[in-house]
Amino acid sequence: MAAVQFVTWSKKMMFQPVGSREQTKYTDQLAIAIRSMFPCDCAISAECFPTTVDALFPSEMESVSKAVAVRRSEFAAGRIAARRALAEIGRPHAEIPAGADRAPRWPTGTIGSISHAGGVAVAVVAATATIKAIGIDIEIMDAVRPELWPLVLSADERHWLRRQPAAEQIRWATAVFSAKEAFYKFQYPLTGQWLDFLDVEVRATQNSFTASAPHSPIAGLEEVFQGRLLHLERFIVSALYWVRQRGESSSVA
Ligand SMILES: CC(C)(COP(=O)(O)OP(=O)(O)OC[C@H]1O[C@@H](n2cnc3c(N)ncnc32)[C@H](O)[C@@H]1OP(=O)(O)O)[C@@H](O)C(=O)NCCC(=O)NCCS
Repeated sequence: MAAVQFVTWSKKMMFQPVGSREQTKYTDQLAIAIRSMFPCDCAISAECFPTTVDALFPSEMESVSKAVAVRRSEFAAGRIAARRALAEIGRPHAEIPAGADRAPRWPTGTIGSISHAGGVAVAVVAATATIKAIGIDIEIMDAVRPELWPLVLSADERHWLRRQPAAEQIRWATAVFSAKEAFYKFQYPLTGQWLDFLDVEVRATQNSFTASAPHSPIAGLEEVFQGRLLHLERFIVSALYWVRQRGESSSVA
């Protein structure tokens, strides 16, 4: 049985004014829960959307100028959360433009990851001097319905899923999906490698998972990386990080 942490969500939250006390209380609770998944060198922040795009820099606005309102809003919420997290590690207010590959271009000396789902954006950041790679993903807990399983889960993963209690299978499928997305974001800035869901093998346990890309042509991706899982009342969150060893250069990934 998946142990679920309660970070109380109410639908009303999305209809509160931007920055209302209810939203702030919720996003603070969420950030605290997620913080337990990362080392203390990392900062985490969360922001609800819809939100205003006023906080975007022109370079950021450019990447969503043709997007629909909800996409602009989730993008803006991610940038607001990321800048708040950067401030927490003592970094100045700065633009975080998106590359042509959609990956955020973090300010020099920093690294991070952003995810959004169900009206909430979360961001994790750290200094490259301490963290080499980082990935986060948040999903609504029942997002991955059975019709998607053959597209996103390998035969082995589906075999494992069928052995879980029937009432929990969608939650676990969502957890594996989320772990794959976190792994993708974790590895991409290091390797530039596009991966399909079926390229990545995930094994999930209660609060953790392992992920690897066993057949990747990129050296190192066949290694098994350890990640963390958090089951919340409404969301599943996946986290992966790679701590830089003392003395290891931070100029080269
Ligand atoms: C990035 C991706 C994995 C998740 O995007 P999504 O479904 O919109 O879900 P999320 O909200 O969790 O994450 C989006 C954020 O990931 C970040 N992101 C996008 N591409 C990224 C990349 N190549 N590397 C690192 N982070 C990336 C961005 O910050 C983006 O938010 P933003 O555009 O508002 O800044 C997906 O869109 C993608 O690019 N998929 C292609 C590869 C894939 O899915 N493979 C299967 C998993 S192995």
